[in-house]
Amino acid sequence: MDKTAAHIECDGVTKSYLQKGKVVPVLDGLSFGVRERELLVVLGPGQSGKTTLLRLMAGLERPESGCIRMHGTPVTGPSNDKGLVFQSYMLFPWLTVLGNVEIGLDIQGRQTGANRGQVREKARAYLDMVGLSGFENYYPHQLSGGMKQRVGIARAYALEPQVMLLDEPFGQLDAQTRLSMEQETERIWQAHKKTMVFVTNNIDEAVFLADRIVILEGKLPGRLAAIRSVPLPRPRDPMDVAFLQLREEITAMQKLAL
Ligand SMILES: Nc1ncnc2c1ncn2[C@@H]1O[C@H](COP(=O)(O)OP(=O)(O)OP(=O)(O)O)[C@@H](O)[C@H]1O
Ligand SMILES: [Mg+2]
Repeated sequence: MDKTAAHIECDGVTKSYLQKGKVVPVLDGLSFGVRERELLVVLGPGQSGKTTLLRLMAGLERPESGCIRMHGTPVTGPSNDKGLVFQSYMLFPWLTVLGNVEIGLDIQGRQTGANRGQVREKARAYLDMVGLSGFENYYPHQLSGGMKQRVGIARAYALEPQVMLLDEPFGQLDAQTRLSMEQETERIWQAHKKTMVFVTNNIDEAVFLADRIVILEGKLPGRLAAIRSVPLPRPRDPMDVAFLQLREEITAMQKLAL
């Protein structure tokens, strides 16, 4: 790939964990690049090291060997230029919807000098972006799963990071809500054009969203099985013949990788 256009580079990333005294290799020599403003989907079945990969990209963990670089600089820890949306909702139950978005901005504001009014205004704007205007004073327990995940997305976007990292954000949603959230994700990505790494175990979701799909091998340690471009025009129709053909092709690649 064109190295000059790479926003994120994973270069020979290897990671293992200690479990009950045994070393479990989780990622083995994973190398791929994420282009500037690309929507890259990482596709792999359960327990293939997807969350581990995203945590490494976020700087929450360090690789044992290999390196992850953003614009050529090694990732050594978490920072505001990387927005993370978690697999579980991770909202603070004692804070309102608005409070959950403001909390990150408040912390950021201590560095940037943003005042309360600016923080509130920005939090409201990003809640509006995800369609939650009018729900600012609700608490997480009063929200549906899809709404909770929208709060998580607003919270991550509000910090205006250069990169969005999403870990199976819609895995817990019903099929209908999931589809509308995928459409929403595409809309937001097209409006903001941030580099996005989206992790999923769902082939339809991958084909619907991705510019390119990084397909992981199905068993540990996670290795790269293939990288597949998705040249279909957007918005995509999951019932379209070309969509279904690509879906078949990737299913076959995944079966081969298992
Ligand atoms: N902090 C940790 N300590 C020990 N083992 C871990 C840790 N985090 C992950 N693992 C192990 O690493 C392997 C991969 O886990 P990971 O969560 O990255 O997979 P995943 O593809 O995200 O799975 P899922 O689809 O279920 O979310 C698993 O065997 C898991 O038990
Ligand atoms: Mg996971």
